[in-house]
Amino acid sequence: MNKVIVISGASSGIGKAAAEYFHGKGYKVIGLSRTYPKEKYDYDYVLGDLAKESDIDRAVEEIGKLTDHVDVLVNCAGIGISGAIEYNTLEEVNKIFQVNVIGQFYITKKILPLLRAANGAKIINVGSVAGELTIPFQTFYSMTKSAVHRFTEGLRIELKPFGIGVASVLPGDTKTGFTANRYQPRVIENDLYKDRIKRSINKMEHDEQNGMTPMSVVKVIERLIGRKNMPVHVTVGFSYKFLVLLSRIFPKRFVYWIITKMYG
Ligand SMILES: NC(=O)c1ccc[n+]([C@@H]2O[C@H](COP(=O)([O-])OP(=O)(O)OC[C@H]3O[C@@H](n4cnc5c(N)ncnc54)[C@H](OP(=O)(O)O)[C@@H]3O)[C@@H](O)[C@H]2O)c1
Repeated sequence: MNKVIVISGASSGIGKAAAEYFHGKGYKVIGLSRTYPKEKYDYDYVLGDLAKESDIDRAVEEIGKLTDHVDVLVNCAGIGISGAIEYNTLEEVNKIFQVNVIGQFYITKKILPLLRAANGAKIINVGSVAGELTIPFQTFYSMTKSAVHRFTEGLRIELKPFGIGVASVLPGDTKTGFTANRYQPRVIENDLYKDRIKRSINKMEHDEQNGMTPMSVVKVIERLIGRKNMPVHVTVGFSYKFLVLLSRIFPKRFVYWIITKMYG
């Protein structure tokens, strides 16, 4: 019987690459996002906004009509917001937490009965290196991804007795639509911050657009799915693994001295 994989954020970037890849591998794929993928696709798709409780309720109901169990849930949907903390609005901050954290929690909660109905189901949350190392002028994004990593850890322990494995993948800069889709700051340059916001965002965008391919992340997700006992967090890419390792070994003061040089 084909394994069933539900992928949020399947209309673009990493989620879309994952949907196409796993469909090609014979999985029954169910994609989810606010809009359908722009290019032709040949798998099931349900629409839903992760920022809306009623959308998630309806989307999961639709998924329940397509399958009686879910083997893998990939929580990939996510948004970014950049800018100085001083100029980010409450509305923006609410929005990013609603999609990246609360929405991820709520869809996972709603799909749990279907995951429990499978044998040895897995949940893979897409976090970020930015959840381990706070990137200035992207602080709220870093905060949400850090929350995703903590969510992974708690969920993993709580679901262990049910045989459901939980892990997160932590991509570094990846070339996707994420850069263009990110909420741009209203204040990019002024007398207070000079050009620090602009320089930081330019570096971030340059690194993303010259970053790894979405498939590098998908391959890591595939390896995780294939493992009986998944690691808790897997960083994608050698240089990012090294960076995360250094951040754990060296004093935080030194680590953030480097981050300041890079993005401050
Ligand atoms: N690109 C990077 O450098 C990078 C690095 C580390 C981690 N990540 C993480 O990787 C994940 C995928 O990002 P990506 O790079 O592939 O970006 P992307 O190309 O912008 O894709 C984001 C996906 O999330 C969906 N989405 C956004 N808001 C949503 C909402 N409210 N409800 C439902 N779906 C929503 C989008 O679909 P719709 O617009 O159709 O809803 C789209 O399918 C994200 O969690 C991101 O934080 C990315």
